[in-house]
Amino acid sequence: MCNHDSLGVEQGKILFVPRPSIEEKVLKIVTARIVVIANQKGGVGKTTTSINFAASLAILEHMVLLIDLDPQGHSTTGLGFEKPNDQAGAYALLTGTPADVLALNTEIPTLQIIPAGKDLARLEFSDLTDESQLYNLKNALNLIKETYDYIVIDSPPALGAMTLNAFTAADELIVPMPCEFLAMDGLIELVDTLNAVQKQSNSNLQLGGILLTMAEERTNLGSAVANEVRKNFPGKVFKSTIPRNIRLAEAPSHGKPIAFYDLKSKGAQAYIQFTKEWLRRKKNELAKDIL
Ligand SMILES: Nc1ncnc2c1ncn2[C@@H]1O[C@H](COP(=O)(O)OP(=O)(O)O)[C@@H](O)[C@H]1O
Ligand SMILES: [Mg+2]
Repeated sequence: MCNHDSLGVEQGKILFVPRPSIEEKVLKIVTARIVVIANQKGGVGKTTTSINFAASLAILEHMVLLIDLDPQGHSTTGLGFEKPNDQAGAYALLTGTPADVLALNTEIPTLQIIPAGKDLARLEFSDLTDESQLYNLKNALNLIKETYDYIVIDSPPALGAMTLNAFTAADELIVPMPCEFLAMDGLIELVDTLNAVQKQSNSNLQLGGILLTMAEERTNLGSAVANEVRKNFPGKVFKSTIPRNIRLAEAPSHGKPIAFYDLKSKGAQAYIQFTKEWLRRKKNELAKDIL
């Protein structure tokens, strides 16, 4: 079920993996890594992860752009912004306005956001899955890839036009998944979509990993679900998990990432730990690529 993105071995056969050129290696270092946070189910922690992963990267002194690609605009309001009109956010980005005009400063100096409002829903049912428009986001981000270290994309609860544009633009997919009964439902469909995108519009896209959210350490069900996911996706589930923590649910109504709302809370600490784990993985992967 898992893909074999980092290995040159498939079903016992050693595959030829072309070595990247010097130009490709340098590009990888100087351009932003684009990470999409996706799961077609709602309420699994996509927005909470997008906001707090982006904020944690920024707090760790990386230049970060968060793009809200969900018409519900929860990343937008969760960082204290009003939902924009169609000239001023993700809708404008996907219809030709340059990203640098749209990116807004946040209270963290190294974090910017392109907000979203409900006008974006018009594009969800438009031609954005057509071959000609599937690359709109990728093309828009190509122009600003050297401005940031990381670009994080929050996506809507559907495998529609927004998510496919994000998958086409991204280097990596992170899947938040609550430690709940039936949580794995839908994961196969998500991995199928990932595989289809890898074949059609973005051979670069990797499954970065699955992040277990809303974990209840003390319940048997929570740990049974976590074990089941780890068994089915070996090596693809982050060691860090995000506990169920009321402070994480409160922070968006104050327009703040959790680290600025309650740094000492378990939720804030968990997102910082997860971000550090992710950064360590990237460092190791890059070291392997460069050697
Ligand atoms: N770890 C957590 N602990 C407690 N509440 C959480 C946690 N993660 C998310 N929530 C809350 O659960 C709801 C759904 O989370 P959200 O991140 O908006 O999911 P999605 O973007 O996938 O729909 C929100 O009200 C959010 O504040
Ligand atoms: Mg959301």
